[in-house]
Amino acid sequence: MKKRIFSGIQPSGDLTIGNYLGALRNWVNFQDNYETLYSIVDLHAITVKQDPELLRERTLTNLSLYLAAGLDPEKGLLFIQSHVPEHTELAWILACHAYMGELSRMVQYKDKSAKLGESIPTGLFNYPTLMAADILLYQAELVPVGEDQSQHLELTRDLAIRFNNAYGKTFTVPKGHFNPFGAKIYDLQNPTASMHKSAENQNGIIFLMEDEKSIRKKVSRSVTDSLGTIAYDDAQPGVKNLLNIFALLSGKTIDEALLHFDGKGYKELKEDVTEVLLGELLPLQKRTRDFLSDPEELRKIYTKGAQKARELAKPTLDDVKQKVGFVL
Ligand code: TRP
Repeated sequence: MKKRIFSGIQPSGDLTIGNYLGALRNWVNFQDNYETLYSIVDLHAITVKQDPELLRERTLTNLSLYLAAGLDPEKGLLFIQSHVPEHTELAWILACHAYMGELSRMVQYKDKSAKLGESIPTGLFNYPTLMAADILLYQAELVPVGEDQSQHLELTRDLAIRFNNAYGKTFTVPKGHFNPFGAKIYDLQNPTASMHKSAENQNGIIFLMEDEKSIRKKVSRSVTDSLGTIAYDDAQPGVKNLLNIFALLSGKTIDEALLHFDGKGYKELKEDVTEVLLGELLPLQKRTRDFLSDPEELRKIYTKGAQKARELAKPTLDDVKQKVGFVL
């Protein structure tokens, strides 16, 4: 039996090369050795304010990007979270078992709510119970996510264990799978902060659908340092980040990348990073546009994905409903 994997990305901003190198490309690799479930988690996205038309458009663009990156609906499940109402049903039941104290300790909640003054939506507070529902609904064993999600994953495990203790074995207790390949990608303008799709300043972010001219400009203006030597060193976070991007996209190891740049300067580093980036992104963009230009086909894919997801979710949700005392 293959182990089951669940992961998702919020359509809350345009996807970046951080999402691609840190998540999507790994997700593609998992398809052969795991049973994979990947979702566009739109229910999560509305925990912060969204423009409705933009959210809808982005959800379809992201699905097309998933497909263009190599996620294959014949190999694994691909679906839009809001199409599977079992997520919200289980999220409510889990929310009734989650404590104010533990949810208030979530760093992401504290960060995001700090900017909202008095008007903090309760969905933002409850967000981790929805994430727990995503994972537990399918008895997923492994959850590939970035380090920033480790606290949410720990809470998911706590909720699973708490529920199992109260009602008898119901959920698989999942494990995080933190960036198994490759490195985290940092902001090109602020190379000690991760490249984040919802960051305010977009000059340091390369979006997957960004046009060539703009990619060239952003890489050429990326922040380095005044040392002038190409080394893989925490004291040179900008250079290190560019080396990571280069290595991941060219399929070279860091040592091979360092050899490649031996005796060269930052200008060449940036030029070569630009070339490997464009070499990967331009064809990816073309494939994405091809998927986007066929809405009927897209619809077939997400409808089928949701249908299969609902079938997989039903036994667990029924078991939960039975255990908490609902009439079935
Ligand atoms: N909270 C995750 C993030 O912001 C996205 C997410 C929602 C997720 N549900 C999930 C990730 C389930 C893994 C599994 O990155």
